[in-house]
Amino acid sequence: MCGIFGCIIREGEAVKLITDGLKRLEYRGYDSTGVATIQNGQMSIRKDKGRIEEVVSNLRILDMEGQIGLGHTRWATHGAPSMENAHPHTDSNESIALIHNGVIENYLELKDELLEKGHIFKSRTDTEVIPHLIEEEMKNDIGLQEAMLRVLRRLRGSYALVVLSTHEPDRIFVARNESPLVLGISDNGTFCASDVPALLPYTNQVTYLRNGEMAVMEIDGYQILKISDETRVGRETQEITWSPEMAEKQGYKHYMLKEIYEQPNSLKDGLRLQERYLDLLTQFLDRGKEVFLVAAGTSFHSCLAGSYILSKIARITSIPVVSSEFMERYGSTVGIDSVVLTVSQSGETYDTLKAIDQARMRAATVLGITNTVGSTLTRVSRAYLIQQSGPEIGVAATKTFTSQVLVLAQMALRLAKSRGKLSQDELDELDEKLQKVPDWVEESLEKLADPIEKLAESIMDEELFVFLGRGISSATALEARLKVLEITYVPSLAYPAGESKHGPISIIEDGVTCVFVCPQGETRPHIVGSIMEMKSRGARIISICEEGDSDIIRLSDQVIEMPKGIPEVLSPIVYIAPMQLLAYKLAVMKGLDPDMPRNLAKSVTVP
Ligand code: F6R
Repeated sequence: MCGIFGCIIREGEAVKLITDGLKRLEYRGYDSTGVATIQNGQMSIRKDKGRIEEVVSNLRILDMEGQIGLGHTRWATHGAPSMENAHPHTDSNESIALIHNGVIENYLELKDELLEKGHIFKSRTDTEVIPHLIEEEMKNDIGLQEAMLRVLRRLRGSYALVVLSTHEPDRIFVARNESPLVLGISDNGTFCASDVPALLPYTNQVTYLRNGEMAVMEIDGYQILKISDETRVGRETQEITWSPEMAEKQGYKHYMLKEIYEQPNSLKDGLRLQERYLDLLTQFLDRGKEVFLVAAGTSFHSCLAGSYILSKIARITSIPVVSSEFMERYGSTVGIDSVVLTVSQSGETYDTLKAIDQARMRAATVLGITNTVGSTLTRVSRAYLIQQSGPEIGVAATKTFTSQVLVLAQMALRLAKSRGKLSQDELDELDEKLQKVPDWVEESLEKLADPIEKLAESIMDEELFVFLGRGISSATALEARLKVLEITYVPSLAYPAGESKHGPISIIEDGVTCVFVCPQGETRPHIVGSIMEMKSRGARIISICEEGDSDIIRLSDQVIEMPKGIPEVLSPIVYIAPMQLLAYKLAVMKGLDPDMPRNLAKSVTVP
C-alpha cells in the first residue's frame, strides 16, 4: 500500500534519502507523493498527486533543507488522488506533519467531534483527523508524546504512522497497528520505512515494530513503547542479509523479468529449508482433523496447487480457501482440531491476517508460509516457514508463487514419508524430481525466450484469453490467467477444462484464443477431448505440453514445448514459468509497465 520513509541523519540532506527511499517503495503502488522536513525549527511540506520524479521536479523537492524528515507515497483509500489528499497531513498550525498507511475506521465520528470544535479540514482523507486530534490534546498542556499516545488509544483501524513536529524538531514519532513499519539504525542516524528495501542502502540493522507499539526516534537510537500502558519494550535489532543490489533490477528492464529469471536460484534456495521447521510444520499439519489452506491472489493459487499435491503425495484432504471468504464459509466450524495453513508472500495481507485472527480465536492451529522475516504472519503463527524467494519487487508475484508450491511439495513429501503413504522407491523418485525442478525451470526459460516472444507477437492484439487445465493444471491455468489479466488488462478466463462445457464454452467462437496447460500424467488423456471441444468451435489453440507430445502438437495451432520427465504433481512450478514470460512480453508489447499494474499494490494491507 502506501510507502513510508522517515529519517534523522547526521550527514547530508534528509530529502535525498527520503526521495530515494520512496523510490524503492514504488512497487507498493501509489498515486501521490509528499515530503516534509524541518530546518532551523521551520517545517516545510511539499506534496502533490503524481509519480515521485514528477512531483520532486515540479515542486523542487530536492531544494528542501533539513536533516530530519519524512516522505510518503499514497495509494488512495479515502478520497481521490489529489494534492489535498496527498500526505503529509497537518494540524491547523502546520506544526505537525503526519503520514499514514492504513485505514482509520472511526474517522467520521472523530471528524464530527473536531468539526464541532472548529477544526477546518483540507482533505477528504481519514488520516487528517489524526494531526488535528493531536493538536487538540496538546491544548491540555501535555507533550507531543503523551498527546500522541492519547490519540492512538482512540483510533480504530489499521495504521503505520509517522509524525514530524516543530514541537520536538529533533525527534520522529512512529506507531503501528496492523500496517507494517520497520525501524533502522546506522552510524549516520535512524530511519523508518514501511518496508525493508527502502532501508537497505542505509542500514541492514532493523527492528520491526509490532501491533500496538509506538517508537520515538532520535539521532542515535529509538525507544519502543506499548501504546496501551507506555511500558518500554526492549528488542534486539535484526540483521537483514538482503543486499541493496539484490533488491535492484540488475540489468533487467523490469523487476518482473528479473524475478522470473531468478527462479532457478530462488527455487534452489527453496530446497534449502531448515529441516527442523519443515518437520515442525508437517507435524502440526499431521495432527489436524481438517486442514485449511488460506491465502489471497497468487498465494491462493499456490494453495490450490498445494491441495492437489497434499492429496496425491500425502493422501491428505485439505481445503483451499480465499482468505477474505474464510470466516463466512468456515467460521462456525473451524476449531481446536483444525489446522489453518496460511500462505502469504508479504505476511501482511489484511484479509489473510484477519482470517488468522478469527481462526486463533477459535483455538485452531495456525501455520504460516511467507517470504518476509519478521512479518505479522511469522508472529501470529504457531510455526512458520520462510519460503526463501528473496525480495520480490514486481507487483505481479512470480518467483514467490513457484517457491510457495515448492515448499508445499516438500511438506507433502515429508508427510507421505511419516505416514507411510508412498513406497521408498516412490519417495526417492519424487525427491529426485523435486531436486531437478530448478534446472527444468532454467532450461525452459533459456529455450523458450524466443518462442514466447514470437507467440506474444502473434497474439498481442487478442481481446480475450481463455486458460484451461485439468487436475493440478487448473491451478496453473488460474495463475497464468491472473498474470495476463493483471498486467495486460486483457479480459481473461480460466477454468478447470472439464468444467468449461458447463457454461464458459458459450463464449467460444472463431478465433478465440484458448491456452491449454497439458503436462504428461493422469489428466493428459482427458485434455485431448477438451482441446477438441474448443477446436471444433473455431478456437485458436495454444498448448503448453511436454516436448514431442505429438497428439497435442497436432491438435494445436501453436505449442510451447516443455522438458521431458516433469511429473504432473510438480508441473505447476515449471509450467508457469513460460506463462509468466508470456504475460510479461504481452504487457511490454502493449507499452504497459508490468512492474506497476494500475489499481494494484504489492501488499494489500487494508480491508
Ligand atoms: C498477484 C499478486 C497478488 C498477491 C496477493 C496476496 O500477482 O501478487 O494477488 O498474491 O495480494 O499477497 P500475499 O502473498 O503477500 O499475501
